[in-house]
Amino acid sequence: MRRKFIAGNWKMNGSLAANAILLNGLKAEIGRPACAVAVCVPAPYLAQCREELTGSPVAWGGQDVSVHESGAYTGEVSGAMLADFGSRYVIVGHSERRTYHGESNELVAQKTVSALKAGLIPIVCVGESLAEREAGRTDAVVGAQIDAVLSMLDVGDVGKIVIAYEPVWAIGTGKTATPQMAQDVHAMLRSRLAMKNADAAETVQILYGGSMKPDNARDLLAMPDIDGGLIGGAALKAADFLAIIKAA
Ligand code: 13P
Repeated sequence: MRRKFIAGNWKMNGSLAANAILLNGLKAEIGRPACAVAVCVPAPYLAQCREELTGSPVAWGGQDVSVHESGAYTGEVSGAMLADFGSRYVIVGHSERRTYHGESNELVAQKTVSALKAGLIPIVCVGESLAEREAGRTDAVVGAQIDAVLSMLDVGDVGKIVIAYEPVWAIGTGKTATPQMAQDVHAMLRSRLAMKNADAAETVQILYGGSMKPDNARDLLAMPDIDGGLIGGAALKAADFLAIIKAA
């Protein structure tokens, strides 16, 4: 049985004061969750997360990682730096990075390898645009995204990643994939994993992301291959994030 995993992606939101309210709200109510929980935060707030969340059931991590280990790469954050602040996870290949920063499938694959080298668990994001879905290209696009990553991983490392399927048209739009639409893509992703490492395919958590909210989480999470959620907007309010954690 795969353990469910609910991760918040704060994107470029937060302040010391707002984060303190959110994190304290989570800590006060979370109890002993049945699922794994994490927040992926802007790098400047990793220290605050370490301070606030150490000893709690909530892990933390970054939203991007450099392919480089150190050196003259202004603005970049290395995997070792994320790990230095106690990060367990890092998001790689979010569609906002693919779209606004031109991240290619190959770069995302390299970042996945970088994260693993630093001892982090990469949350590898994949997903198609609306135009690609309407053209019937979802499997081709998402398949190519995951295959690029798998082609760069050692067989033994396949089980060390988390995947997040985030249809671009569902992110921040209030439009959610139906549970069946998401399930179909998740099953396709798992079959791609199985081609590389059949045992790992059974254990890798595949999260859904894209307007997951307290009122739709339960139905999505009931699908056999949906192992959790990567939550944007609803992760910024303790009550909403907690409700999704409860649904899991
Ligand atoms: P929303 O939950 O705001 O749609 O964002 C999803 C997302 O992009 C998480 O990475």
